[in-house]
Amino acid sequence: MKPIQVGLLGIGTVGSGVFNVLQRNQEEIRRRAGRGIEITMVADLDVDRAKAAVGDGIEVVNDARAIIANPDIDIVIELIGGYGIARALVLEAIAAGKHVVTANKALLAVHGTEIFAAASAKGVMVAFEAAVAGGIPIIKALREGLTANRLQWIAGIINGTTNFILSEMRSKGLDFDVVLKEAQRLGYAEADPTFDIEGVDAAHKVTLMSAIAFGIPVQFDKAYVEGITKLGAADIKYAEQLGYRIKLLGITKRVDKGVELRVHPSLVPSKRLIANVEGAMNAVVVQGDAVGTTLYYGKGAGSEPTASAVIADLVDIARLHTADPEHRVPHLAFQAHTLTDAMGTLPVLPMSEVVTSYYLRLRVADQAGVLAKVTGLLAEAGVSIDAVLQREADEVGGEGSTQTDLIILTHDTREGTMDAVIAQMQALPTVLAPITRIRKEELN
Ligand code: NDP
Ligand code: HSE
Repeated sequence: MKPIQVGLLGIGTVGSGVFNVLQRNQEEIRRRAGRGIEITMVADLDVDRAKAAVGDGIEVVNDARAIIANPDIDIVIELIGGYGIARALVLEAIAAGKHVVTANKALLAVHGTEIFAAASAKGVMVAFEAAVAGGIPIIKALREGLTANRLQWIAGIINGTTNFILSEMRSKGLDFDVVLKEAQRLGYAEADPTFDIEGVDAAHKVTLMSAIAFGIPVQFDKAYVEGITKLGAADIKYAEQLGYRIKLLGITKRVDKGVELRVHPSLVPSKRLIANVEGAMNAVVVQGDAVGTTLYYGKGAGSEPTASAVIADLVDIARLHTADPEHRVPHLAFQAHTLTDAMGTLPVLPMSEVVTSYYLRLRVADQAGVLAKVTGLLAEAGVSIDAVLQREADEVGGEGSTQTDLIILTHDTREGTMDAVIAQMQALPTVLAPITRIRKEELN
């Protein structure tokens, strides 16, 4: 059978990995796909660099639309990134009847509803394995491997840059800025690293997993997003003393009233496997009613790990593109007409309705009665305390210090209740600095 022809838009970190892996493993990939998969055209703004990357025999253009207009191209890979030109090109490729493969989680999390609808109307596939957790085949697992299950929750370390930063800060005592620069040098960080450190990239990814897990539309605008920029070294240390590690988790959970969709730093018990995922590695824990807990671990970023996922999509398309569109795997795992509407039976819940447990750190005056006042407010609000740790004032503020840190772990509480009681504690004259609140996930 004639090789399937592919046009590549953007040959940067991931694009060059796709090109190289496809070249290197072409014979095995052909045997798996049942036909050859050939990149015959590449578009990049920097044509000279792109030509140097692909060598002779492949047409390199600087206008991506020349690829979309080429009737011989069957699949367009979008590896430019962002919501701007990438969105226009993906929609134009779909309109031209091309299948699309993309690693662009930002684009799909924000414009997924429009893009999947356009693809369904045109009978083409939009594949995005690389958009979540890089090289880990988590989309395939959620959409196909776990299809028998009523999925209950997903919790993942799905941003390599922030996990790298947290790991290096904890284990080597390095500063945030130094480690961020290293993540950028290694190609993990997004073009705009604020997306990584403010939790936006992880929120894009968990939004996609949430849609696939629960059969709901892609709703990035309803996700709660909190990054790692406000985390202090002291909290990383105290968490460790209490038997926890701090990880930036993307969490989505089906509860009675709807779906939780949130990204924030979380204390995770050190004994959990996911707490020991270090460096730029990613891991996703999925809980299903039949299978129980499953864990997926691997490289979530980088040139060839991400290329591995992009090429898996190319193989899927090569196998399935002659199938009747109605008999292909649905983009979001559930048949499109069965997705619950955004305000329907499974709404994404506001953060105030989320129920979780908490780590609180209060900088307090080291005097009699302070602990009693604080715990009294928690008791009045019905918040149950799991553990309390009080540091020696000297240890916190140096010799002769009159201030100390009070660390409280709570049992499960509604976030709205916690907001109110934190405001009350903050108003106490003996609470001397803004209270630190980090959510805690036992993941059991
Ligand atoms: P890069 O910035 O390394 O590559 C993007 C490439 O696209 C650059 O070569 C850029 O050229 C080119 N480009 C920009 N605009 C155009 C255009 N209009 N037409 C053609 N080419 C264009 O990004 P990455 O490879 O890191 O990321 C690509 C996508 O993959 C993003 O969506 C990213 O979020 C996603 N991703 C990345 C991962 C990673 O580890 N890097 C992991 C998982 C997903 P120039 O440099 O000249 O601007
Ligand atoms: N910036 C992302 C990360 C790349 O650090 O995980 C992979 O999506």
